Amino acid sequence: MAKTDIIWQLFEHFRHQNIRKAVVLTDENVEKCYSDYFSELSEIVSLDKIVLPSGEKSKSIETAIFVWNYLADKQYDRGVFLLNFGGGMICDLGGFVASTYKRGIRFTNVPTTLLAMIDAAVGGKTGVNLQGLKNVVGTFYFPDIQLPTDVSLLGTLPQEEMHSGFGELVKYALIGSTELFHELCRSDVFPVIKPEYVDFCVKFKQEVVEKDPNDHDFRHILNFGHTFGHAIESYAMEMGKPIAHGLAVAQGLYYESLLSAKIGHLPQDEWRKIADFLTKHFEIMPITKEIKPKLINYMQNDKKNQHTEINFTLLDHIGHATYNHQILDSTLNNL
Ligand SMILES: NC(=O)c1ccc[n+]([C@@H]2O[C@H](COP(=O)([O-])OP(=O)(O)OC[C@H]3O[C@@H](n4cnc5c(N)ncnc54)[C@H](O)[C@@H]3O)[C@@H](O)[C@H]2O)c1
Ligand SMILES: [Zn+2]
Repeated sequence: MAKTDIIWQLFEHFRHQNIRKAVVLTDENVEKCYSDYFSELSEIVSLDKIVLPSGEKSKSIETAIFVWNYLADKQYDRGVFLLNFGGGMICDLGGFVASTYKRGIRFTNVPTTLLAMIDAAVGGKTGVNLQGLKNVVGTFYFPDIQLPTDVSLLGTLPQEEMHSGFGELVKYALIGSTELFHELCRSDVFPVIKPEYVDFCVKFKQEVVEKDPNDHDFRHILNFGHTFGHAIESYAMEMGKPIAHGLAVAQGLYYESLLSAKIGHLPQDEWRKIADFLTKHFEIMPITKEIKPKLINYMQNDKKNQHTEINFTLLDHIGHATYNHQILDSTLNNL
């Protein structure tokens, strides 16, 4: 159903915009599962495909150069349309290539991971990693058309990737929907991801991004769980045991909910509900005396901080967050 909608909307779009050439950008794993996904479009456009190695390593300037060269060698002009078909790696890299090739070509994302569906494919942030650091080079560049999400693509997604996306989904529930959080709480096991959960997250993010597309202030609301989350992700990397982004974010949600309760924003009973839920579904790393200074150090280097205090988005209720709380490291030391 969703696939039919996607293909139909692309047909209409290509027809209206007089688009004659499209290039699918995808990775090897997605290609193995869905090599014919867009084949019907060849009735209306000449359809080409670039298949990249899967994984975060491909989100690099070297891969961007490879794709630029491919497009240039085939003499694609500004009229070519880029179809990013994959997870966050493909969406970020493809968006970046689209924003820079010939000063910008039209593109859209057809996300295939839960994380990309609810986050990476929405909001116009594109980019590649540099010198081992995430998203150092990038642009704000928005898709030409926002397509419906095809959750049936999740049928082939490995469980760990689903779990990671689920961490991000819980964030949306905590900052944006008491009902969704309580619905998720009803299940003792990993909940079935219903299309309406994905739709809620997409709509929520789109509304936030519309108000603050360039991430000056209001968009910071989406950072809930990410100040601790990024620090935990970096620490795990430093320890040689990298963890998926959404699993680090889930731990960030735990510690930032605790912080919200400690400084008196979040009622204690709500904190208990959140803690029970997160410990049921995710492994929460204990923050020992040895680890704490390292995490604080990572947080102080976080790009969202303009001063020595650390900038947090905090919860005041399940389903509602506020942003730009400056927290002293001494408060974090006593957490
Ligand atoms: N731009 C943004 O706003 C934004 C937001 C969040 C995350 N991101 C970025 O997204 C990236 C992470 O995204 P991700 O978690 O989707 O990673 P990913 O794109 O690397 O995909 C994870 C793995 O799943 C495989 N895969 C994808 N779809 C599949 C499917 N349907 N069936 C089977 N396998 C499939 C991929 O080949 C890969 O091995 C990071 O680079 C992160 O920085 C960007
Ligand atoms: Zn995230």
